[in-house]
Amino acid sequence: MTIRFLLNGEPQEADASPTTTLLDWLRERKGLTGTKEGCNEGDCGACTVMVTDVDGSRALNACILFMPQLQGRAVRTVEGIAGPDGTLHPVQEAMVAHHGSQCGFCTPGFIVSMATAHLNGRRDHDDQLAGNLCRCTGYAPIIRAAKAAAEAPVPDWMTGDAEALDLLRQDMPATGNVAMPTSSDDLAAWYEAHPDAVLIAGATDVGLWVTKALRDLEPVAFLNNCSDLKGIVSDGGAIRVGAMTQLTDFGDFIADRHPSFAEMIRRYGSVQVRNAATIGGNIANGSPIGDGPPPLIALGATLHLRRGDARRSIALEDFFLDYGRQDRAPGEFVEAVSIPVQPDRLRVYKLSKRFDQDISAVCGAFNVTVEDGTVSAARIAFGGMAGIPKRAAHAEAALIGQPWTTRTVQAAKAAFAEDFTPLTDMRASAGYRLEAAGNMLLRYFRDMAGETVSVLEVRP
Ligand SMILES: Cc1cc2nc3c(=O)[nH]c(=O)nc-3n(C[C@H](O)[C@H](O)[C@H](O)COP(=O)(O)OP(=O)(O)OC[C@H]3O[C@@H](n4cnc5c(N)ncnc54)[C@H](O)[C@@H]3O)c2cc1C
Ligand code: FES
Ligand code: FES
Repeated sequence: MTIRFLLNGEPQEADASPTTTLLDWLRERKGLTGTKEGCNEGDCGACTVMVTDVDGSRALNACILFMPQLQGRAVRTVEGIAGPDGTLHPVQEAMVAHHGSQCGFCTPGFIVSMATAHLNGRRDHDDQLAGNLCRCTGYAPIIRAAKAAAEAPVPDWMTGDAEALDLLRQDMPATGNVAMPTSSDDLAAWYEAHPDAVLIAGATDVGLWVTKALRDLEPVAFLNNCSDLKGIVSDGGAIRVGAMTQLTDFGDFIADRHPSFAEMIRRYGSVQVRNAATIGGNIANGSPIGDGPPPLIALGATLHLRRGDARRSIALEDFFLDYGRQDRAPGEFVEAVSIPVQPDRLRVYKLSKRFDQDISAVCGAFNVTVEDGTVSAARIAFGGMAGIPKRAAHAEAALIGQPWTTRTVQAAKAAFAEDFTPLTDMRASAGYRLEAAGNMLLRYFRDMAGETVSVLEVRP
């Protein structure tokens, strides 16, 4: 298939199979070897590129980005960060001045992440660079460089991509086994006719099926041009989040309403992963350690599914039937998830070995309503404690109707053993998981009482 996009300001018509990654295409077909291959699974940021579309410019990992996802977009690699006459970008100058590179393998990825953050006016350098791994320089000089470049004006050549996008606007008709629908109606019709197809949203899971499991995926449908599946609307009593809404955008939105949810999302993958990963993909993959479902379940979210013209809505927790099995028929897809508007009582605690960019050992979400000192409602859900994201029904029952006291919390903690029989794996032992889940409830109790419970606060 032919994909039209802009590469470092130059129009491209690329012939590539639908699951060719941008990284392979750049290095093998274009000879642009500045973009490095480190892990080939989204973890290290060595392959970071900047992709611009109508929603702005974002850093993405080229190793898990399929060529069709670029249709109608503009890509800037490290080769396009300096000006056409060779003038260095301010972040490049600052990296030289602050000795931000030793072996240099990570440096192109850092430069692209830093230039994208600079373009977007971001000053939260630690978060912006958490997805870029450096194993020799150390982060202090790199962060110093990012800070030093922050006030410099954005160079002209970095702003042209957005203006050139109109030149690329073109619908891609479905060709045989590959579809690039531009609306949920198109997707519904095509998927009903191809119920065995793989849907590709952000490709942060599916990308690894190709780069690590070497799977052949066709037939496939790329959902990233279905604009009506993307975005967040408040309608009356609920917030409806389209399946193709990226974690970055959802995190920005939810920060005002449920700040603890947004704080957890800050630790979900990295900027590059959150810029690609969608809320629909995070639910549909059915992962028992996905970070989105526990807080969504604790908030009482409803999942909206569609097959052809038929639509249905179910409680999100009912979607997860068993490990690897969800309540989704062939040809049926996730359209949206909606969250009831409610006062903020939500707290989400993510436990992982590494603070940034790590998969949860346990992710607990707590939403307890207390009226006149008595618990009137409780929704508690966990990832990492069972084969599916799961509510803690026994612990909830032990809370409801009881006074909101340490004694009640201790009784509910004990009830987690009836709710969960967690696994021992490389992330945590079963005993650790159970203990940690119980302690999270105690942490919630203290958190709601106004005590600081941040894991970043070290106290004697
Ligand atoms: C480096 C790295 C770090 C990560 N860190 C985290 C983390 O901290 N927390 C976490 O929860 N996850 C993490 N993940 C996993 C992944 O990012 C998420 O699960 C993500 O939300 C998947 O969304 P996606 O849009 O990329 O889905 P895709 O990879 O495109 O699809 C995932 C699955 O969902 C299906 N699908 C997608 N959209 C739909 C739809 N609308 N309807 C029906 N089916 C659909 C696909 O067919 C596929 O089976 C990480 C992944 C990587 C590579
Ligand atoms: S090569 Fe490591 S994130 Fe792409
Ligand atoms: S300079 Fe060697 S990995 Fe960063």
